[in-house]
Amino acid sequence: MDLTTYYLGLTLKSPLIASAGPITGRLDNIRRLEEFGAGAVVLPSIFEEQIEQQKQMLEALATVGTDSNPEAPTYFPAAASYALRPAQYLELLHDAVEAVDIPVIASLNGISGRGWIDYARQIEDAGADALELNIYFIPADPNVTGPEVERRYLDILKRVKAVVKIPVAVKLSPYFSSMGHMAMQLVSAGADGLVLFNRFYEPDIDLARLALQHSLELSTAAEIRLPLLWIGVLSGRIEASLSASSGVETADEVIKYLLAGADVVMTTSSLLKYGVGHMKVLLDGLRNWLHARDLTTLYSIRGRLSQRELANPTAFERANYIEILQSYNSSH
Ligand SMILES: Cc1cc2nc3c(=O)[nH]c(=O)nc-3n(C[C@H](O)[C@H](O)[C@H](O)COP(=O)(O)O)c2cc1C
Repeated sequence: MDLTTYYLGLTLKSPLIASAGPITGRLDNIRRLEEFGAGAVVLPSIFEEQIEQQKQMLEALATVGTDSNPEAPTYFPAAASYALRPAQYLELLHDAVEAVDIPVIASLNGISGRGWIDYARQIEDAGADALELNIYFIPADPNVTGPEVERRYLDILKRVKAVVKIPVAVKLSPYFSSMGHMAMQLVSAGADGLVLFNRFYEPDIDLARLALQHSLELSTAAEIRLPLLWIGVLSGRIEASLSASSGVETADEVIKYLLAGADVVMTTSSLLKYGVGHMKVLLDGLRNWLHARDLTTLYSIRGRLSQRELANPTAFERANYIEILQSYNSSH
């Protein structure tokens, strides 16, 4: 069976990608993910804050140096360990690229258009096959307008595209008043792919302590519906790859995303929950499903239930909602 997939102009052996998270931060896991059939891996993000901290530290060190204080070198050990993280990231990236044959995608996480973006060039130099931009911005200030938020995404993308030649995907949230238009703007600004969606941090309240509770829940299959909707709507309409991210637990979710039109499907929660070997379980499930239908490639299923392909395209829209509510009301 041939599961060859094209994503961001790269050729992948399968449509399943281990998304950015703690699993892909370890070289042994990356090797095992390749063995278990992953088409590519996305390394965890390096954060704007980490890069900025390193820059500030280096600037501070340069100032210390100009004092030509003979004690100055003693500052270096502490500073070096503080500033190591971006360097470690490049090392992991470099080692991963050496260790596996599947594409290794790096991830940059930030919210401003400042100098940290230059780090994208270093990522390219370290051998990344592509770059994912995880623009994680929660506009908690009510004075920030929708167009300002959109501009921020577009500015960051344009600045990154100006400094690298490798393909760039944008991982975004669904919180735009016109998701489809935002997707089209990103593609016009140079995005080679869109990852739908990131899961934003959402606090809970601990009723015993009467305090905010900061915990990270892993996703469940119920969460595929929002990305499924937008992948279904955008499939065949934009000149960029589409990656589904959120809620994969079993092969069923993978198949649904492909039917809606995803080029690739990503998973983090399921690997954290069930272990790295779950990558093979997902792929075997996909293969078995195709085999049971005498299908030998993904060609005949990808996008088959996208909005463009459906006889009734309003199935993705409001008309269907009203119909469902009516049938629900009449049965209760
Ligand atoms: C513990 C953890 C760490 C994560 N770290 C990152 C990260 O560094 N960068 C990123 O873009 N996404 C990160 N994510 C988000 C995942 O890549 C993914 O988009 C999200 O969890 C939804 O997919 P899932 O339902 O398969 O988990 C993280 C998720 C988890 C659970």
